[in-house]
Amino acid sequence: MLIAQISDCHIRSGPSPFDKLVDSSETLKQVVSHLLSNKAQPDVLLATGDLTESGTDEEYVELLDLLSPLDLPILPIPGNHDEYSKFENSLERYLPKELPNSHCSYVNDDFPIRLIGLDTSLPGRHDGDFDDERFEWLEEKLVSDSEKPTLLFTHFPPFASGIHFMDISGLKNSERLCSLIEKNPQIKLVVSGHLHRPIATMIGSSVASVCPSTSHQLGLELNPEYGSLVDEPPGYQLHRWDGHRFTTHTATVWEGKTFDLSSWISEVNQQSSRGTGFPKK
Ligand SMILES: [Fe+2]
Ligand SMILES: [Fe+2]
Repeated sequence: MLIAQISDCHIRSGPSPFDKLVDSSETLKQVVSHLLSNKAQPDVLLATGDLTESGTDEEYVELLDLLSPLDLPILPIPGNHDEYSKFENSLERYLPKELPNSHCSYVNDDFPIRLIGLDTSLPGRHDGDFDDERFEWLEEKLVSDSEKPTLLFTHFPPFASGIHFMDISGLKNSERLCSLIEKNPQIKLVVSGHLHRPIATMIGSSVASVCPSTSHQLGLELNPEYGSLVDEPPGYQLHRWDGHRFTTHTATVWEGKTFDLSSWISEVNQQSSRGTGFPKK
């Protein structure tokens, strides 16, 4: 099973501090085009929040238009830049009919991997909270099937990355979420956004990964006194489940050169089937 992830598209209709850095509609268009050009197409696309900059109707219309070439199930959750009621109304076609009252969390059991979307964003706030209500919701879903391999997707990563200003303004009660993940080894992978660069760590026996933004990235700056936004290329991730483990690939999208290896790969496949190994010629 192949699971694609996009995050932090920040589609915007008004002025923004990063106007001069990137055109977020243009970069999402490039990401969608790159995704469509893959010979191995994903089974599902996770969209892990901050899909718009300000959560306006206009921005969601633009987002849907940019995603429309993709012919696959899309599972979105909101981030701190989204606006929940507009998010829910605009993306209704992708969301289950029944959602909890105050958060857009849900389970999708259509695939060999159980996909659990956890929304920890809060109205009118840029920080999130794994509060009592969300804890009870997630614990109940995890108890209801503790066998099926599970991927948890959420906007705020539940761990400190070392990018200090993002860590201190991120998810409250993240330790509680980590403890719950550690108690549920059926969670094979936790994927998030919010940090605008590819990052990975471990929580218990689960890999926890952050997807780059389809728009601007955060500069790699681990000194707590500094921080920046940079125009490193847009990206997305492909999470490949082989029946035993996930392997995560990060795609970097830019106008680069390609050297086709098809004829060499054909030779490698023939040598492999002969069982002679790969001696130098
Ligand atoms: Fe973001
Ligand atoms: Fe965010």
